[in-house]
Amino acid sequence: MSKLRLNPQIEPFTRIDRRAPPEDVRQLPGADKNYPMANNENPLGPSPRVIEAISAAAQSLSYYPEYSDIGLRQAICGALARGLSPENIFTGCSGFEALELIARAFLRPGDEVILSPPTFSGAYRKVTEPLGARIIDVPLAPETFQYRPDAVLSAVNESTRLIMLCNPNNPTGTVTPAAAMDELMRGLPDHALLVADEVYHHFVEAPDFPDSIQYALEDKNIVIVHSFSKAYGLAGMRLGYGIAKREIANYIAGLQRGFHQNKLALAAGVAACHDQAHMRRCVDFLRGEVAWLCRQFDRLDVKYWKPETNFVMFETRLRAEDLNKQLLERGFLLRTQTRINLPFGMRVSAGTRETNQAFIRAIEEILSAEST
Ligand SMILES: Cc1ncc(COP(=O)(O)O)c(C=O)c1O
Repeated sequence: MSKLRLNPQIEPFTRIDRRAPPEDVRQLPGADKNYPMANNENPLGPSPRVIEAISAAAQSLSYYPEYSDIGLRQAICGALARGLSPENIFTGCSGFEALELIARAFLRPGDEVILSPPTFSGAYRKVTEPLGARIIDVPLAPETFQYRPDAVLSAVNESTRLIMLCNPNNPTGTVTPAAAMDELMRGLPDHALLVADEVYHHFVEAPDFPDSIQYALEDKNIVIVHSFSKAYGLAGMRLGYGIAKREIANYIAGLQRGFHQNKLALAAGVAACHDQAHMRRCVDFLRGEVAWLCRQFDRLDVKYWKPETNFVMFETRLRAEDLNKQLLERGFLLRTQTRINLPFGMRVSAGTRETNQAFIRAIEEILSAEST
């Protein structure tokens, strides 16, 4: 290794070997059942048509998939029904990879990337910092976690290349309204690109949610990132995509290796796009469950931020680590929010009704034991 010259421009993150959280939870003493509520997945899973399509595709795994993902891009355009052409789309092996491709396409050492924490910073840093980019944090407004387009625009300079806008935002579940996004888009110089990470967009009910696809249709400097991991219930498949004007989407797609999507993912993505009714049922169900969780938090006097997502960020009077430990002992896996300076903050992903009820019973039990 010592004589091997590493790329001086790339500083990789340390490798993490971590087992899938549900398996870890099963190992915990006292947890006879595990409840995965940490990763904002869809517990209803994909459409049965997706499972059929994967099984059919599995019959010919000894042969390469189609060289191009054009069939999937056509299906995505059909599902979005916004008059986009397949040339406006590039696919990635996850939304995360779509973000990575955007970073590779636009970042050189010294370029600046604006983040608005608390947000999906871990992933944004992971795809940008190894390329030598500098992160500029322009935090959301304290307490309400509203996006501040004026502050972001003040931070833009000659070196700014990417502005990451997670909408709805993870972990807060809050949305940036159309007026704020308009202000941002109007103020951006030509050398900067807005990355609108909208992997939770299906769950939004707020009427003033921005129509970001319209900006792409108008050839503005924007890339929108979507994922099949959430509403489509395909987190295990690792499939996502980006939407942008043709010039940008074609350029990014040009960075991909041939045969970049595997056969199962192509089949799954097309079948998922063709079963919009299933996806809508999942979204309706999960919105209902999130509303149910919020009503329970109201009853228990637990503070939360009104979510437009399939998860809820909340605070109790217990320190997050303590609450987390007690929840883990009962088999519940959530995310603490201590890293974003919320020592009492937690994030819970909506599960099935059985899971959500068990979770609320556990919270009630833990909180009442603490107050006695
Ligand atoms: C805000 C946000 N963006 C992107 C992703 C990545 O999604 P994928 O599973 O498609 O990589 C996630 C996953 O949780 C997310 O929360």
